[in-house]
Amino acid sequence: MHDPIEISPGVSWVGVNDRETGLFESMWPLPRGISYNAYLIVGEKIALVDAVKKLQIDGFIAAVRKALPPGRSIDYLIINHIEPDHSGAIEVLSSLYPGMKIAGNKRTFDLMEGFYGMTENLHAVQDGDELDLGGRKLSFHITPMVHWPETMMTYDKTAGILFSGDAFGSFGTLDGGLFDDEIDPDVYEGEMLRYYSNIIGRFSAMVHKAIRKVEPLDIRMVASTHGPVWRKDPGYPISRYDRWSRFEPEPGAVLAYASMYGSTLRMAEAVARGLALGGLKDIMMHDVSKVHASFIIRDIWRYGGVVLGSCTYELGLFPLMRNLVELLEEKALKNRRLGLFGTYGWSGGAVKRLKEFAGTVSWDLVDPVLEVKCSARDAQLDECMQLGRNMAAAVKP
Ligand code: FEO
Repeated sequence: MHDPIEISPGVSWVGVNDRETGLFESMWPLPRGISYNAYLIVGEKIALVDAVKKLQIDGFIAAVRKALPPGRSIDYLIINHIEPDHSGAIEVLSSLYPGMKIAGNKRTFDLMEGFYGMTENLHAVQDGDELDLGGRKLSFHITPMVHWPETMMTYDKTAGILFSGDAFGSFGTLDGGLFDDEIDPDVYEGEMLRYYSNIIGRFSAMVHKAIRKVEPLDIRMVASTHGPVWRKDPGYPISRYDRWSRFEPEPGAVLAYASMYGSTLRMAEAVARGLALGGLKDIMMHDVSKVHASFIIRDIWRYGGVVLGSCTYELGLFPLMRNLVELLEEKALKNRRLGLFGTYGWSGGAVKRLKEFAGTVSWDLVDPVLEVKCSARDAQLDECMQLGRNMAAAVKP
């Protein structure tokens, strides 16, 4: 999509799809791409809300030019979020529209100077400030750490549109449909949660605070920087972000394992059978060697039960399992039940590190914790099944 799309009279989406970048933040796979959304608001003055990544500038500038009324220029560039996936076009915009003022807060300008060395044509805003474009009024709401310290949201009081920055965003390009009523929202939901859990989840307390802050506004449309524009059901992304920020789980379990020669996998299969016999239907089983950690973290953010099993590798955790637990420690997810098992050959190590992980995240440990030398015998596999049953009992409603 390269043409602007009117989302409300006088307001156009002028974003771009990114189908080229393989890893968001050079880390998180984008199998379905991502969009960088920007919006042009035309009153007597004209404001552009956010911009796009540097690699996507051509399509973006073309859309802005088409959306601008003939002979008009941009009066304000409102920066809800200075991260370069949204501000990468700022230097090009400033040279194309030299009269344009950049609206942001103190922290925005500090980071903008750091990234781009830009210190002029500033329009500083504080929490609750308004900007009258003539014919439409905007208000600014500072929402720090959703996802950086400078992040804020802009509310169009005339049309009830919340330009929410990263909040309520999602991985996934806009494949023809822009609005929630032009797509199946549930198709985006998985990528929305993967985006939330891996990119924003660390700051869940601040997300929760931000939602409480903007809740009193009459939000008739949510226009985030990533993913669909929500006009039919603006409550859809808000209610999900709210739930995820409170770490509220759904009944189900994630079983992630690392196995080199099948011994740990046999234990994992027995645990999975125990989960099913215990009455759980939503069981997500992941091999950490085949599935990127971002998908496993996504599922762990959804479900209440987590079972981790690993072989030992060089006196410690198998490296890809180590990567997963280190990421989970950083994400600071709360309110989960945890089961642990592992194997070793001539020295322990894997289960010891998994127990340290249990202490760090403070999730409730479900018995028994199992550690097996080389390969489990029948009695030990029975214990694995019991771990599964116990976990099912712990997370069922
Ligand atoms: Fe979409 Fe935090 O940048």
